[in-house]
Amino acid sequence: MKILYATSEAVPFCKTGGLADVAGSLPPALAAEGAEVAVILPLYKRVKEKFGDQLKFECYNYINLAWRSCYCGLFSYEKDGVTWYFVDNEQYFDRTDLYGYDDDNERFGFFSRAIVRMLPHLKFWPDVINCNDWQTALVPIYLKDDGVREEMYRSVKTTLTIHNIEYQGRCGRDTLGYLFGLDQGWANDGTIIMDNDVNLLKGAILCADAINAVSPTYANELKLAYFAHRLEDIMQQNSYKLHGVLNGIDMKRYDPANDEGIAAKYSVDDMAGKAADKANLQKMMGLREDPNVPVIGIVSRLVSHKGLDLICEVLHDMMELPVQLVVLGKGDKKFEEFFAWAAQQYAGRMAVRLDYNEALSMAIYSGCDLFLMPSKSEPCGLSQMIAMRYGTVPIVRETGGLKDSVQPYEAWRDAGTGFTFANYSSSDMLYVIREAVNLYLEYPEAFARLRQRAMECDFTWNRSANEYLRIYAGVCGKVWPPVQEEAAPFEETAPVQEPAAEEEKPVKKTRKAAAKKTETEKKAPAKKRATKKAAEAEAPAAEVTEAPAEEKKAPAKKRTTKKAAAAEAPAAEVTEAPAEEKKAPAKKRTTKKAAAEAPAAEVAEAPAEEKKPAKKAAAKKTTAKSAAKKAAEKEEKEEK
Ligand code: GLC
Repeated sequence: MKILYATSEAVPFCKTGGLADVAGSLPPALAAEGAEVAVILPLYKRVKEKFGDQLKFECYNYINLAWRSCYCGLFSYEKDGVTWYFVDNEQYFDRTDLYGYDDDNERFGFFSRAIVRMLPHLKFWPDVINCNDWQTALVPIYLKDDGVREEMYRSVKTTLTIHNIEYQGRCGRDTLGYLFGLDQGWANDGTIIMDNDVNLLKGAILCADAINAVSPTYANELKLAYFAHRLEDIMQQNSYKLHGVLNGIDMKRYDPANDEGIAAKYSVDDMAGKAADKANLQKMMGLREDPNVPVIGIVSRLVSHKGLDLICEVLHDMMELPVQLVVLGKGDKKFEEFFAWAAQQYAGRMAVRLDYNEALSMAIYSGCDLFLMPSKSEPCGLSQMIAMRYGTVPIVRETGGLKDSVQPYEAWRDAGTGFTFANYSSSDMLYVIREAVNLYLEYPEAFARLRQRAMECDFTWNRSANEYLRIYAGVCGKVWPPVQEEAAPFEETAPVQEPAAEEEKPVKKTRKAAAKKTETEKKAPAKKRATKKAAEAEAPAAEVTEAPAEEKKAPAKKRTTKKAAAAEAPAAEVTEAPAEEKKAPAKKRTTKKAAAEAPAAEVAEAPAEEKKPAKKAAAKKTTAKSAAKKAAEKEEKEEK
C-alpha cells in the first residue's frame, strides 16, 4: 500500500503542537509495518535553516491557484524508511512562524493545491492521502474537483485525521473562487459552506473517504455539540466512516532509561535516577529542595480548552496542600498573567516559565511526581503519555484521549494508572489532587506500584499504525493485514500452466516494459513523469507499438492494474527486480496479495507453497485454458 501523509508540521523538522509529534512518528511506524510511505510538508524557513543542506532538490513547477500562477519547488529527504517531501514557495513559507499570518488560508490553500498537482512528481502514485486538520483539508476537495476532468485523480482515496476540530479553516464566502479557485457549485450545494462561511474542514469531512479522530472517545465526542464546535450534525451524518485510533508516542525517543537529555537516567527496576531528576528540577526552577514533597507538573499551551480555568479557580486551595507546582507553557495573556502572578505568591513552592521549551519540558516529565492535565476537551493528548513513560503519575479529566490512555486508580484492588475525574468541575479536580497527594505521602508503596503501572503502559505506535493501515486498506477495497489465500490443489492448475503462460506472454512483455519504465522513470527528471497513470498503466509509445496484435486486442481490464502486471510477471523478470526488494523481510512476502504486489523476484524466492498458484490465479488460468483451447481449435481449423 502506498500512503502519502500530508501535514503542516512534523518532528524533527518543525513543531507547534501534537500534530508534529504524530506526523513525525506515525509514518515511520507505517513503513515499519510494510507500507510505502511518503510525507509532504511546507518548506518553512526554520526547516531550510536546520536541514537545508541535507535536502535534495527534485524539481519545480508552476501551480495555478485561482488567478495566480505560483512557483512550487519540491525537495526530498530520506529518513526512517520514509521519503519526506518539502514544498517550496518563499512567498508563503519563508517566514519565522508556521501559522498566525493574515494569509494563512491562502498559504495552506496553495499547499493543498501543490500536494495534488505535484503528485506526478513523487516517487509513487499514492493509494491513499492522509490529510490532517484544516491546513490540508482542501486535498480531498481538489482531488474530486480535478478528478472530474482528469481521470488519474479518481484513483486516489483520502482519509482525514482530525487532531482538533476547533480549528476549521473558516473564511469569507467570496474566497472560494478568488483564493482557492473553486467553482461556486461547491458553495451552492453546501459542501464547503458552514454558517455562510467557507469551512475547509467541513468540506474535507464530506469529501474524504474516511475520517479518523485521534482517540476512540474523541470520535464519539465529535458527535456532541459540547465538543464539535458546530460540526456535530456533520459528524453524526458521517459517523459511518468515522474511526478513532489512539495516537502513540515514540517510545525510543521518550525512554527514561536512554534519554541523554535528562539529568539522570532511570527505569522501572532502578528508580534512583528519578529522585536525582527531581532534585535537579527543584534546583533549576528555584523550588525548595525537598525530596519528600510531591511536585506537580503542568506542560501545556495556556489556552482555555486545556482546563486552566479549573486551576485558576482552586489554585489557592491546591497550594494549601503540601505540594510544589511547576508550570511550563505560553498562550493566552490572561493565563500567562495569572500564573506569573501566582508564582510570586508562592515563591519557593511554585515556579512558572512562560515559554515553549523542549529541554525544560523533559526535565518536568522526569522530575515531577504528578502531572496535571484537566482538559475541557482533549482529542488525544500526548503529554500524559510521555509523563507516564517517565513515571510521573497523571491527574486527568476523563475526556478524549485522556480517558482512553489513563485508567482510574482503584485503591481497593490496587489497579489503574493515574487519577481521573469526570465532570468539568474544579472541586472534583481538587478532590482527586488531594487523593493523589495523600497516596504519595501516606502510602508510598502503593504510590510506587501505581507509578510502575503507569510506566509500563504500552503506547507504542505499531498497534495504532496497524489500525491506520486497516482504515487505508478499507477505503481502497483491500484488507489489512493482507490475507493469505488458500493454495489451489496442484492437479487442478498443473495442466493449464503452459498454455496460460503462452497466452499471457504478450501482456507480460508489455508489463515488463512498464515495470522497466517505472524503474527508469524514477531516475528520469521528475517533470518527464507526466502522470503516474501514464507511467503505470501504459508502457511508452514505442513499447506499445511493439506489442503483438493480440495484446492490443486484449480486453482493457487485463491491462489496467499494476498488481495484475506484477502478478503475471514471468520468471525472466525475476532477475530485474530491484535489489532492495529482494532484501525485503520474509514476513512481508507471506501472502498472495503481497506476492502479487511485489516484484517477481520475491515470488521466486518465496517458499514452495507460495509458488503454487492460489485460487484466483487458478481461476484466471482456467479461463486462460479455455481461451487457449479455443485458439488451438481455431488454429487447427485454419490449418485444415
Ligand atoms: C492536537 C490535540 C491533541 C492531540 C494532538 C495530536 O494537538 O489537541 O490532543 O494529542 O493534536 O493528535
